[in-house]
Amino acid sequence: MTYAFAARPVIAQSAPVMTAEAHISIDAVTKIYQTKSGQVESLRPIDLSIRRGEFLAVVGPSGCGKSTLLKLVAGLTSATSGTISIGGKAVSEPPDGVGIVFQNPVLLPWKTVRENVMLQIRMRGLDPAKYADAAQRLLKTAGLEGFEKSYPWELSGGMKQRASICRALVHDPEVLLMDEPFGALDAMTREKMNAELQRIWAESRKTVMLITHSIPEAVYLADRVVVMSSRPGTIEAIYDIDLPRPRPLSVMGEPAFIRYTQDIRKHFFAQGDLDH
Ligand SMILES: Nc1ncnc2c1ncn2[C@@H]1O[C@H](COP(=O)(O)OP(=O)(O)O)[C@@H](O)[C@H]1O
Ligand SMILES: [Mg+2]
Repeated sequence: MTYAFAARPVIAQSAPVMTAEAHISIDAVTKIYQTKSGQVESLRPIDLSIRRGEFLAVVGPSGCGKSTLLKLVAGLTSATSGTISIGGKAVSEPPDGVGIVFQNPVLLPWKTVRENVMLQIRMRGLDPAKYADAAQRLLKTAGLEGFEKSYPWELSGGMKQRASICRALVHDPEVLLMDEPFGALDAMTREKMNAELQRIWAESRKTVMLITHSIPEAVYLADRVVVMSSRPGTIEAIYDIDLPRPRPLSVMGEPAFIRYTQDIRKHFFAQGDLDH
């Protein structure tokens, strides 16, 4: 293993990835919210291409527009200017091939774990019979076998979040969008979930966009880490994370890993605090 590479940020304004490679293209996207008390400029122009099968993490100070960016890609809100496309198709409403995981698991308390996972299928009007096996496989992978008939209140926080990840994946989306999915978990469970997520991603090679306020989580999981500036948010730097995969959790103690986290953290010393 070599540590010859310093963690050098690639500034966002460098040449965009060729369109043929890009799975998600964000072109000159801005977002201004209109509120009763006036306009809130959330995002300054953002240009970003995410390759097919890439794991991209986004970090940035609280309120800089990370969730806004994710909602734009998810088609849950529309850009004030600029365009977003997935697989060459402009996003104007929630696309079929996208799964989303939010910070809170949002499981329906009166439905079982399996029913909560299958909600994705029912809401999309897909045939439940066709996806029953996929649901079972995912629940097994997520360590929830034996809990299919349990209700959310019978599960730990980590189990609930794993169930909501199963729900995001059950229709086999090409794109997985995650907004601080592990923020509510304790440190040990969180690390386990990180290892689990890396394994799921390695097997499925989905294109992932993960928003996190944990710099180690971003470096551990991602191919590239995008650092956003404070609001109105834009891209301040992009780091290529050149650590071999699969990455054991022990990689977090290695010099190259620590150097990445230190370099990324410097952005937040410069601009104030990181999202907490
Ligand atoms: N629906 C909304 N209406 C008005 N302002 C919003 C809305 N959603 C977010 N904002 C504002 O946009 C800015 C960015 O918010 P958000 O994307 O949630 O940031 P982050 O996820 O980085 O904490 C914040 O100032 C927030 O108050
Ligand atoms: Mg947010």
